[in-house]
Amino acid sequence: MFRVCAVVLFLVTLTAAHPTEQPLESPQPPAADQPAPPAVSYQPSAAEQLSALLSPLVEGAVSRAQCGWQLAQLAGRLERLQAGADAGHRALAELTRQQLRLDSVVHDVTALQLSELTRAGQAVPVVRGEVCQPPQERRDGKELSAAPEPVTNMTKRHIPQSGAILEQQPELEPGPEPVHQVRPTAEVESEADCEAHPAALPAHVAAYQEPETRACARSCLQLRNQGVAQDGVYWLTGLPVPVLCDFSHDDGGWTLLLTAVSRDGWDPYSVLGRSELSPSLTDNYSILRHADTIRDLGSGTRFAYRIETQAEKGRQRWGGIWFAPKHYSFVDETALQTNVSLMKRFDVWVYQSEGIKRRMPWINTWGYHEFKPVLTTATKDVNFWGTLVTHSSEVRFSPSPWHPPSARDSGTVLYWMREEVF
Ligand SMILES: *[C@@H]1O[C@H](CO)[C@@H](O)[C@H](O)[C@H]1NC(C)=O
Ligand SMILES: *[C@@H]1O[C@H](CO)[C@@H](O)[C@H](O)[C@H]1NC(C)=O
Ligand SMILES: *[C@@H]1O[C@H](CO)[C@@H](O)[C@H](O)[C@H]1NC(C)=O
Repeated sequence: MFRVCAVVLFLVTLTAAHPTEQPLESPQPPAADQPAPPAVSYQPSAAEQLSALLSPLVEGAVSRAQCGWQLAQLAGRLERLQAGADAGHRALAELTRQQLRLDSVVHDVTALQLSELTRAGQAVPVVRGEVCQPPQERRDGKELSAAPEPVTNMTKRHIPQSGAILEQQPELEPGPEPVHQVRPTAEVESEADCEAHPAALPAHVAAYQEPETRACARSCLQLRNQGVAQDGVYWLTGLPVPVLCDFSHDDGGWTLLLTAVSRDGWDPYSVLGRSELSPSLTDNYSILRHADTIRDLGSGTRFAYRIETQAEKGRQRWGGIWFAPKHYSFVDETALQTNVSLMKRFDVWVYQSEGIKRRMPWINTWGYHEFKPVLTTATKDVNFWGTLVTHSSEVRFSPSPWHPPSARDSGTVLYWMREEVF
């Protein structure tokens, strides 16, 4: 495994070589009008070292995770080298998502490095005795460009599943070259003419029309962090629908995902999106199908969701605030997302089989009870207490069975999210 690391390090190092006119094995001869190669620094043993090191590497493909930080550095290096090319992103995503499928990555890197070698005459010696250690001494002088680059929030955001690897990377001082991430085109274009200080749109409009200028923020949390404090409806950059933001409860930054005031019209399809242009605290509404998009804006390992019931009587009733792992989905249909943490409780209740369950709300596409629980924290069998949205065929509750005896009927249900926990 150390040899694997050494090769990885070696390959990263080689990439730092400055292109000159002295190819090692270029299929094309150097141009005749180019100046003479520099007299120093060319080490003819580099190709042999590479060759010697590659064979154990290729046969090995072992000890993947223990060199995670180096591979993350290599991934960052690859990404910058290829300047946003698809191949680099694919390699990086593969690397992070699949717990280091070293074989394919090494294959890519080998091909890349061999092509580099054909252009690079100034090979850099292998760093020895530094296996799995940051190549600190390389981070000065001209070779600074080869120094591993700090992982930024943009990097994490760009590859949401990469946390396991990237967060193993030790803290690094910023290098001289910033990471040039390719930002979404829409964001770049919209920032020129977005509204940095948006006002909430007039309340209780039947359907909110898109204004000429959208808010610069991409979520209610970003609005909050930009200083906006007026509860209400906003059109945000990057979302196809307006959203209702709550800045006045629970530290603010909450996006309303769903309001259920009745049973009518709800099923596993309409729960994904209903009256999407009419965010409201007092009428049926859902933008659940956009929730994971907002979730992905968060840079932490968890997001928050909030459930309030009997909202016609006031806010923060009979529910709470939960934190969930980043990979949990708002449109889950498995009922298996149970590792959620109750962080704040509204009113007095405990988890119980006939009541609120420790489970992120899931969409009942299984036909269980003829869809009567549509969006629920309940198990698939037993009962359907702890339900947020109920099919119209269930007439015993108003509108959903929630938490008896004190909150047997859910009343108006509000379901919110915030992509970062604070
Ligand atoms: C990353 O995000 C966190 C929280 O959003 C912030 O405190 C931190 O300064 C950010 N780091 C960088 C390098 O932008
Ligand atoms: C929500 O349900 C109520 C009661 O059935 C109904 O009057 C109202 O029109 C519904 N709202 C929407 C937006 O469908
Ligand atoms: C549940 O989540 C906690 C973090 O809240 C995490 O530490 C733990 O490993 C998770 N458990 C499982 C079984 O995924």
